[in-house]
Amino acid sequence: MKQIYCGFIAFFLLFCVSCEPRVDQLLLLDLKNVGRYLIEYLPQKEKVRKIDSQNIYRITLSDQFGRISSEFWTKKKLESLGTRKMPSSYFDRAMKYSGTEFEGVSLSKIISQFKFKNYEDAILLNCFDDYQGFLTGSEILKYDLYLATRVKLESGSSKPGWLNPLLIIVPDGKTPPFEEKFLTANIKELKFVRSSEYYAPLKNIANTSKEAEQGFEVYKSNCLFCHGLKNRGGNKGVRLLNRYSFAKNEGQKMFLSDFKSFHDKDNADKQDVKQFVTTDQLEKVIDFLSSFNKVKQT
Ligand code: HEC
Repeated sequence: MKQIYCGFIAFFLLFCVSCEPRVDQLLLLDLKNVGRYLIEYLPQKEKVRKIDSQNIYRITLSDQFGRISSEFWTKKKLESLGTRKMPSSYFDRAMKYSGTEFEGVSLSKIISQFKFKNYEDAILLNCFDDYQGFLTGSEILKYDLYLATRVKLESGSSKPGWLNPLLIIVPDGKTPPFEEKFLTANIKELKFVRSSEYYAPLKNIANTSKEAEQGFEVYKSNCLFCHGLKNRGGNKGVRLLNRYSFAKNEGQKMFLSDFKSFHDKDNADKQDVKQFVTTDQLEKVIDFLSSFNKVKQT
């Protein structure tokens, strides 16, 4: 009986050992066939990490039915459209640098690679650090904006963590208004959108008064990218409506003094937004932000 029992165990062990490579082989075969589907269906976060490390960027469009789809572009593919080496005195001025060198591709050249079927007239620039930039097609053409794939700072300059390609560059000789808007960096996705649709949730609030409307213009060119509102813009900074009571005098004062002490030229992360706005413009921003209380929220 004991012998039979041992024999059985021995047989069982032998069976297991002989199965092992077969299981491995099966798995290997499976990965070969299924691997590419696995990559496609990986959860979003996993996918982005993979893409990030390989310098692959997403370009997103919609068809005539509004269905959204993305293409993945490598840095190499972007650069194959033709690059130009250039300085940017606009960038150097805003960052208090000198002699920064860029290599980049013309944004209008990139745009010309696509057919737009949904009246898109602007590009959302989604960034790795929760910054959401925004440029209209006419700004891109008028200022001949470039998308830099490489940046070289003058030696000795300190680089903030967010200063990585892809980034928007204003070539020398072009003079857009001096705004945060033309300094988007760390871009991971270009998404073609319709500007009226993008700003729609904020439009009825901006329309409450002339001052609020002017404040909205300042906000969308300098603040929305980090301090999002109503599902538009980025999340790098706090939600200002939660932080301050704009209906009250003290709330407004605190907002102004916090802004001036945080976003000045000594900002540790080189977010000197103060250089782009006057106190008068900030007062208009307050008019815009306090209108959120007045408009019935839907
Ligand atoms: C590049 C991103 C960025 C831009 C652009 C930006 N901010 Fe900020 N802002 C931040 C971050 C990050 C902080 C500090 C961390 C926090 O409290 O969110 C901050 C802090 C502030 C604070 C102080 C909040 C506090 O809790 O102390 C105010 C006020 C403010 N921003 C207003 C503005 C206004 C107004 C604009 C546009 C004129 C603007 N910011 C543009 C990222 C940005």
